[in-house]
Amino acid sequence: MPVTITFHGHSTFSIDSDGVKILIDPFFTDNPQAKISADDVEADFILVSHGHGDHVGDTVAIAKRTGALVIANFEVIGWLGAQGVENIHPLHIGGGNQFPFGRCKMTIAHHGSGLPDGAYGGNPGGFLLKLNNGVTIYYAGDTALTYDMKWLADDNVDVAILPIGDNFTMGPDDALKAVELIRPATVLPCHYGTWPYIEVDPQAFKDRCISEAETGCVLLGAEESYILGQ
Ligand code: NI
Ligand code: MN
Repeated sequence: MPVTITFHGHSTFSIDSDGVKILIDPFFTDNPQAKISADDVEADFILVSHGHGDHVGDTVAIAKRTGALVIANFEVIGWLGAQGVENIHPLHIGGGNQFPFGRCKMTIAHHGSGLPDGAYGGNPGGFLLKLNNGVTIYYAGDTALTYDMKWLADDNVDVAILPIGDNFTMGPDDALKAVELIRPATVLPCHYGTWPYIEVDPQAFKDRCISEAETGCVLLGAEESYILGQ
């Protein structure tokens, strides 16, 4: 069964695996790159990497409308629960759990995690997804380059979703080093071009991915998909 990864702009992705829809960092309202509204998206699971507004985004509204199970760190889950999101599962850095779609482990991210109202959001993270059909996806979240990423080379990552926008996260130079540590089959860059602070040249990054890291790289526009296993 193919796995379809759809980009919704900025750092928001949907993964469709065996008919299960996993939505990551659902930021639609006020997302300059978004082409659909939060009302249009479906989800069975919602993963939130950290508390910042461009990642928590529309989680509350989408979770209440769809009833999706929301997975995030303990502090973000507590904040969502206080806002009436009932179907919740707390994880934390280094911990994983088996879900109906496969295993989800929360990975280290070097960043912040304050929530939009100033509440404490714990530590930021990323997600390592080992889907039931054998596909492995690493969603780094907002992070600096960290040498811990080298451990991910043991996980045979099929697709690494990495921020490349610089300023708030890894820029292209460090993201390329991340690719060399993780050794994924394919990279999907994100978290660039949304605002002037994070304008970078994605084509130049893609070219270097292929020529220097010998790794595939796919640049997706909003609502474009990358399909594995076809
Ligand atoms: Ni952030
Ligand atoms: Mn961000």
